[in-house]
Amino acid sequence: MIIAIDGPAGSGKSTVAKLVATRLNYRYIDTGAMYRTVAWTAQKKGLRLADETAMAEIARDMDIEFVRGGGDGGDGYSVRVRGEDATLRLKNETVGKGAAVVAAQKSVREILVAKQRQIGKAGNVVMDGRDIGTVVFPHAEKKFFFVADAEERGRRRYEELKSKNLSLDLQGMIQEIRQRDGEDRRRKISPLVMADDAVKVNTTRLSIEEVAEYVLKNINNLDTTKKKVRISRL
Ligand code: DC
Repeated sequence: MIIAIDGPAGSGKSTVAKLVATRLNYRYIDTGAMYRTVAWTAQKKGLRLADETAMAEIARDMDIEFVRGGGDGGDGYSVRVRGEDATLRLKNETVGKGAAVVAAQKSVREILVAKQRQIGKAGNVVMDGRDIGTVVFPHAEKKFFFVADAEERGRRRYEELKSKNLSLDLQGMIQEIRQRDGEDRRRKISPLVMADDAVKVNTTRLSIEEVAEYVLKNINNLDTTKKKVRISRL
């Protein structure tokens, strides 16, 4: 089974996706980390993010693994890039800003979507991102779309980064979240949209546990009849 969890930054996707994957003993794939890896690699090499050909080459050469356990992110999952633990470095705000730039590039998306489909082919995976239910796996057995108020999402990001000593500007974070939402929703290729067969979950006033319970219950009540797949704008 493929479980797709999409939604804007800070909506709780990755935290819940990790919990759900652990409970079901599924793999967890963080597709945002793939866009972040392109930006991070480019920034390390001093390449221009606007150079789409160079970004596509980085995407093509990407050697990334999602590993349960270990990692410097402290939440039981790690991202290894060329064998090196990059979990924490990929969360950096500069890398996040760069990721939004490369995520708008057609060739980068094509390459990464192909890699995501390859990874998901073996099944039993929880994959989170922006376009999993609409583009990567439009026939995923179960799709969720998380939403939450921008203030709450900014606060979550702030708390997360604070606990890792990465950033300490709450108002800046909220503004950043709003800007990132706009960029993700307005971009021409694979904008952030909800598949109309996705289950929408507003996580603003729910705890991580409550959201995970809701998702797991919903998966257990899985309706396996084939649904017509259409795409709708939020
Ligand atoms: O979820 P995140 O903040 O790690 O994502 C980083 C950037 O990549 C963000 O701008 C959205 C983009 N992204 C995307 O376009 N498609 C995905 N499947 C995952 C992330």
